[in-house]
This record gives sequence, C-alpha cells and structure tokens, in this order.
Amino acid sequence: MTSVIIIYGSTGGNTEMVAETVADFLKEKKVRVDVKRAEQSTAKDLLKYDVCILASPTYGHGLLQEHMAKFMKGIKDIDLKGKPCAVIGLGDPKYEMQYHIESAPILEKKLTGAGGKILLPALRISRTPVMHLKGIIPHWTKQLINLII
Ligand SMILES: Cc1cc2nc3c(=O)[nH]c(=O)nc-3n(C[C@H](O)[C@H](O)[C@H](O)COP(=O)(O)O)c2cc1C
Repeated sequence: MTSVIIIYGSTGGNTEMVAETVADFLKEKKVRVDVKRAEQSTAKDLLKYDVCILASPTYGHGLLQEHMAKFMKGIKDIDLKGKPCAVIGLGDPKYEMQYHIESAPILEKKLTGAGGKILLPALRISRTPVMHLKGIIPHWTKQLINLII
C-alpha cells in the first residue's frame, strides 16, 4: 500500500483544513496517509514515506508560513533521491499580487533542490479554501491518486 505524508504549516487554520481534506480523499482510496504539523516534524520524516506532500500558506511578502520556513531549513540535510512529491500553496490576492501563492513555487524549488520529483502542478488555493472543498481540492487529489496507486 502506498504511504503518503502531508506536512503543513498553518497559522489561521486554512492550510490545515486543506491538508485534512486531501488526506480524507486519499484515505477513501485506501492510501495510508499521515498528516503532521510542520512544528512537530523534521525533514527526515519525509524519508519514511513513498510520497511527500508539503503544504504552506504565503505570509510576509511572499514567504512561507513561519513553522514551514523552519521545517524547510532541514531539507538541505536530506537526499530525497527522486522521491515523488507534491505541493499545496495558499494565498490571497488582496496581499501583493506579485507574491500571490508564492509559497507553492518556493516549496517546489526546495523539494527539487533536495532531489525530489514533483508529480503534478501544485494545488493552489486562493482566498478561503471553503469554496474549494468540493471543487479543485478533490479534483487535484484524484489526479494525484492516479499518479501514485
Ligand atoms: C500578514 C499576512 C500576510 C500575507 N501575505 C500574503 C502574500 O504575500 N501572498 C499571498 O498570496 N497571501 C498572503 N496572505 C494570505 C494567506 O496566505 C492566506 O490567508 C492563507 O489562507 C492563510 O493560511 P492559514 O490559515 O493556513 O495560515 C497573507 C496573510 C496575512 C495575514
């Protein structure tokens, strides 16, 4: 059975909601999935799973959420060796448009820098995730499932 870890940083709860929703859809398809907060994880946790998903909102002019930023510092010490990875980014266009959902490309760049293989374009959630719970979130997760099982 394919094992998946979702590690997320979330200050206001939106990213947590997306991470848990993706996990629920994966579990429905009998994928083994663990969901962990970034502040309770280390980069080495990624090595224990077949597929890694990292999720972060964007804060402070195009930066990762604070706990995810700290977590990502450990990424330079591990070799993901072609491990299948996917990224979830959140943001809101009411902040500077040039940094809209900048967390997604930041995470992708760091994962590929560590040797990870990005499976599909990032799930990008703009504004509240609530309106996407029955839309792009299950749609993206189905695409992911087709690639990993
Ligand atoms: C102080 C602050 C700065 C933000 N900066 C950005 C930004 O640069 N780019 C962006 O797309 N969204 C930005 N956002 C929006 C958040 O990424 C968005 O609200 C997200 O859903 C929060 O996720 P969370 O509830 O998991 O913490 C910012 C929000 C706050 C409160």
